[in-house]
Amino acid sequence: MSPLLEVRDLTAQFARDGVPATVVKGISFDIAPGESVGFVGESGCGKSVTARAIMRLAPEGSSVAWGGRIGFRGQDLLTLSEREMRDIRGRRIAMVFQDPMASLNPVMSVGAQIDDILRRHTGLSRKAARQRTIELLGLVGIRDPAIRADDFPHQFSGGMRQRVLIAIAVSCQPDLLIADEPTTALDVTVQAQILRLLNRLRRELGMALMLITHDFGVIAGMVERVNVMHGGEIVEAGPIDQLFAAPTHPYTRALLAAVPRLDGARPGG
Ligand SMILES: Nc1ncnc2c1ncn2[C@@H]1O[C@H](COP(=O)(O)OP(=O)(O)OP(=O)(O)O)[C@@H](O)[C@H]1O
Ligand SMILES: [Mg+2]
Repeated sequence: MSPLLEVRDLTAQFARDGVPATVVKGISFDIAPGESVGFVGESGCGKSVTARAIMRLAPEGSSVAWGGRIGFRGQDLLTLSEREMRDIRGRRIAMVFQDPMASLNPVMSVGAQIDDILRRHTGLSRKAARQRTIELLGLVGIRDPAIRADDFPHQFSGGMRQRVLIAIAVSCQPDLLIADEPTTALDVTVQAQILRLLNRLRRELGMALMLITHDFGVIAGMVERVNVMHGGEIVEAGPIDQLFAAPTHPYTRALLAAVPRLDGARPGG
């Protein structure tokens, strides 16, 4: 199957005090339609900058120069105009960020926020959008969705807010969902629920999933392939079972050694 996403020699460069710093150093990877791919690596290795490059979003308040090629459905995203890119964001490629509170509008009910996005992207009527919003909230496991739609973000728990963000991200049925550490702010049981939800939605909606984490334990059993990042490069890549069974790069071994083994068995093994 030809890839959905085909990243080649991607670079990202910030200007720090006028001095250019290359933080993503020429990485290449593919994601096939419907595939789940993990990105693992320690803090600062370039995972979020890579994810944001695919959305063509510079971190807030800074400018970044991208190089290389991001092939997506036969186009190079790095060459599209901002207007063309707006059609891709949300509709074709959607992203769930780490901090759900920062991504939601605190003074608008969650239902109204989802209605707005649906209407902007699909031109649904107000009534049809609300119907779809309620379906989406149900899909991500919010109970009594018709009632909860009128609640504001602060009336939801952290895990429920993350579910709302996932509902927003999948609302337009994107081809690719990027989840950047979607569960780090949550406790362990809620983490597992959210990851299971992402995987279920991936299968039900036929999306590809790019799942970013610093913790190998989190993605065991969740993704088919992994790219291990270190210092702005991909240092090892392969099927997750293979990496668990026989990591070749010392850095991958170090990451794996940090995975807690409650039952003495290898995670996912
Ligand atoms: N706005 C910015 N301006 C300058 N440098 C930045 C900016 N954002 C990120 N960087 C640098 O880019 C590198 C990669 O950062 P990135 O946020 O991608 O790391 P990460 O792998 O997502 O880490 P974490 O696991 O902590 O989220 C880091 O060295 C970081 O300092
Ligand atoms: Mg990050």
